[in-house]
Amino acid sequence: MKIYAHRGYSAKYPENTLPAFEAAANLPIEGVEFDVHLTKDQQVVVIHDESINRTSNGVGYVKDMTLQELREFDYGSWFSEEFVGAKIPTLEEVLSVFRGTNLRVNIELKSDIFVYEGLEKLVLQKAAALKMKDQVVISSFDHEAVARSAELAPDVENAALFVNTILDIAEYQEKLPAKALHVSLPSALRRPIREAIEKGSVVRVWTVNKIEHAALLLHTGIDAIFTDELEMMLAFLKENNVRV
Ligand code: G3P
Ligand code: MG
Repeated sequence: MKIYAHRGYSAKYPENTLPAFEAAANLPIEGVEFDVHLTKDQQVVVIHDESINRTSNGVGYVKDMTLQELREFDYGSWFSEEFVGAKIPTLEEVLSVFRGTNLRVNIELKSDIFVYEGLEKLVLQKAAALKMKDQVVISSFDHEAVARSAELAPDVENAALFVNTILDIAEYQEKLPAKALHVSLPSALRRPIREAIEKGSVVRVWTVNKIEHAALLLHTGIDAIFTDELEMMLAFLKENNVRV
């Protein structure tokens, strides 16, 4: 069972900021996950929510502001005074942190609420420009975007995200097509996912922040967990003699 840093090292650093990514890049983990949205001037930025309200000192939707406008706010002080001045990062800035490392880079397209026309194409172009196409995994709850990413770049790993499982999920995965399934913690333990794993599906589970939950997943055959608690989970795997 491998570890992906969920929104960077988000237990100890403000989520989806450069300090959170730099901290994750220094740990012996499999990969990192982060979320992307499109600004008013078509820039790909890394932030979880559609709005900046929760994770900055500003108010408003990402889609209604230019990159320059978004950069005027502070994305660190909501978490701790220590991180005052953290800016919203662009996709290029975050990719640059992981370029040349062994970490897989999971870019989650947050186009499931607002339609971000052409987001997957822009993301693939940026990954290609930095020669990181082999390093990235494109995922989304927006399965149209997952299918379009497969069409645009069949060799780039893609994954379909699920809050709840569906019956015959492996057949659905093949139809999309998606190379992996990223499923929520409760659904990871259900029969359709167990069967998909038996049929060879690569399954990663979000978001696992408790040891008791990691213990439940340890021998299920899942590929990886997404977690905010990187050092805690690394210690858990070490105690259980899992090589990372
Ligand atoms: O990509 C896995 C996980 O991040 C999905 O949920 O809301 O944390 O983006 P969320
Ligand atoms: Mg995410």
